[in-house]
Amino acid sequence: MSSRGLGLKNEKRFLLAPSILSADPLAIDDSIDRIRGEFDWIHVDVMDGHFVPNLSFGPSVARALRARRPDAFIDVHIMVEPAEGFIDMFAAARPDLITLHAEATSHANMALSRIRSLGIRPGISINPGTPVCLIEPVLPLADLVLVMGVNPGFGGQKFIPEVLLKVRDLVRFRAVHDLGFLIEMDGGVGVENAGDLVSSGCDVLVAGSAIFGDDDPAEAAKRIRKKAEACGPSNGSRA
Ligand code: DX5
Ligand code: ZN
Repeated sequence: MSSRGLGLKNEKRFLLAPSILSADPLAIDDSIDRIRGEFDWIHVDVMDGHFVPNLSFGPSVARALRARRPDAFIDVHIMVEPAEGFIDMFAAARPDLITLHAEATSHANMALSRIRSLGIRPGISINPGTPVCLIEPVLPLADLVLVMGVNPGFGGQKFIPEVLLKVRDLVRFRAVHDLGFLIEMDGGVGVENAGDLVSSGCDVLVAGSAIFGDDDPAEAAKRIRKKAEACGPSNGSRA
């Protein structure tokens, strides 16, 4: 059984990945310091103003994060089209994981293989309107599937509950095909839905505004973790 991605969880029920898109843009590192001990991954949202109607960080931010935080798990979410155009540039920053959007490339198989050939874990992402069947052919190549809980481009949006059906499809597909990718929910995650998301089979929760938009980000992260930990036995991830 390939447990590649699942191995990243080290027996944890779930992983929390704050998105720095909602951090103080003039003090990102300080924002991360404020939640020390309350997170597992750092989620870096890269936006090109074309695939999504917003601009955010370039490879220099990923490079600076790695330089300052050599042991951090850096989870780069590339919302750029064509997605394969920036693999090498971001790989040079040595993140742990690079996720591309299936909708932003005609070469998902080549792109995921390229990421892995550079010694980085590959992830594939689907927008709320994209069915799981589009990415089934490349799921054996992925260590992570990023399910968008909102239409990509901005933090602070409302969660789209219909995407949970896709989580269930992914949990089933992973079990039937004996694969080991993690399932990450990204967008609209907070204390009100963290428990449901984990019990539906999400392995990684990305939260931006629910953490960095709070007066006390560490307490906010703690509350999300507590809710997620209190959830019932997950019907999906291998406990
Ligand atoms: C949206 C990004 C998400 C976003 C999450 O395009 O991919 O990572 O920053 O922000 P919240 O948690 O505020 O929805
Ligand atoms: Zn993201």
